[in-house]
Amino acid sequence: MTTPSSIRLTQTAHGGGCACKIPPGELEEIVSGLVGVDSPDLLVGLDDGDDAAVVRIGPGQAVVVTTDFFTPVVDDAYDWGRIAAANALSDVYAMGGRPIVAVNLVGWPREVLPAELLREVLRGGLDIAREAACPVGGGHSIDDPEPKYGLAVTGLVDPDRLLRNDRARAGLPISLTKPLGVGVLNNRHKSTGEVFAQAIASMTALNADAGRAAVESGAEAATDVTGFGLLGHLHKMMRASGVSAVLDAAAVPYLEGAREALRDGYVSGGTRRNLDWVRPHLEASVDEDELLLLADAQTSGGLLVVGEVPGAPVIGEVVAGGEHTISVR
Ligand code: CO
Ligand code: CO
Repeated sequence: MTTPSSIRLTQTAHGGGCACKIPPGELEEIVSGLVGVDSPDLLVGLDDGDDAAVVRIGPGQAVVVTTDFFTPVVDDAYDWGRIAAANALSDVYAMGGRPIVAVNLVGWPREVLPAELLREVLRGGLDIAREAACPVGGGHSIDDPEPKYGLAVTGLVDPDRLLRNDRARAGLPISLTKPLGVGVLNNRHKSTGEVFAQAIASMTALNADAGRAAVESGAEAATDVTGFGLLGHLHKMMRASGVSAVLDAAAVPYLEGAREALRDGYVSGGTRRNLDWVRPHLEASVDEDELLLLADAQTSGGLLVVGEVPGAPVIGEVVAGGEHTISVR
């Protein structure tokens, strides 16, 4: 066994973060036609690819259930733990809810990686959960050839103030609460070992305030931008809502270094698959590089909100009709 300080965690996995998701089209084919118990209390299920399941448990109260886990996105064990926890909690915020309890999910190559590194991962997760005021009670771990970490999170939400994928209305602005670009920066980090503090700060930032602000501003539609990229998640939302979108490419914020990372070729396969998936519904007057940035697979990205969120840039507008087209200008 090597010493913990010499271990580059990103080299222990074939893919990293939300970029290791099963591609969107492939996943939809796998789950299509699979139905479980049909309950009128299941307010949000699998239908529109929402961030979490929501079930009504009584008047004015619903439970949000979600889980997210992935292989290392960064070499530092503590940071990876923080990122994975912030990312898992995000799906509760993206539904307009607040997390109330979480459990850990761990896959660990016990023979290859020291236990003290796992301890660092868990410590990172706990620190973020503490920030979210969300207790973590135990979890489940398995011996696994590739390390994996995440949380299963349970939250509460007012069923009348849910943020869903299928409530985007024409005429409303589209806001984005975090800059894009962590995909290309993580890809560069994995290749070169360069550390991008701005990417880590963005990925470990909770979407708690953004979710609360979205609900308070009266928004009804939101999702978080993760593995399918801005274009992929926007496409899913427009399709679920039966509307189209106009995107102002120049208004989309990027992390420092993202354009340079793209220029230097650090684009993940997941990002290319995202763009290919959305392309049939794309009308673009910008070049391919700009589209790749807009499709960049994010890990623990911001909220994409239909409505205005104080402090977040407006990056486009929902328009009526069309074939859930995204026009990028
Ligand atoms: Co999500
Ligand atoms: Co998720």
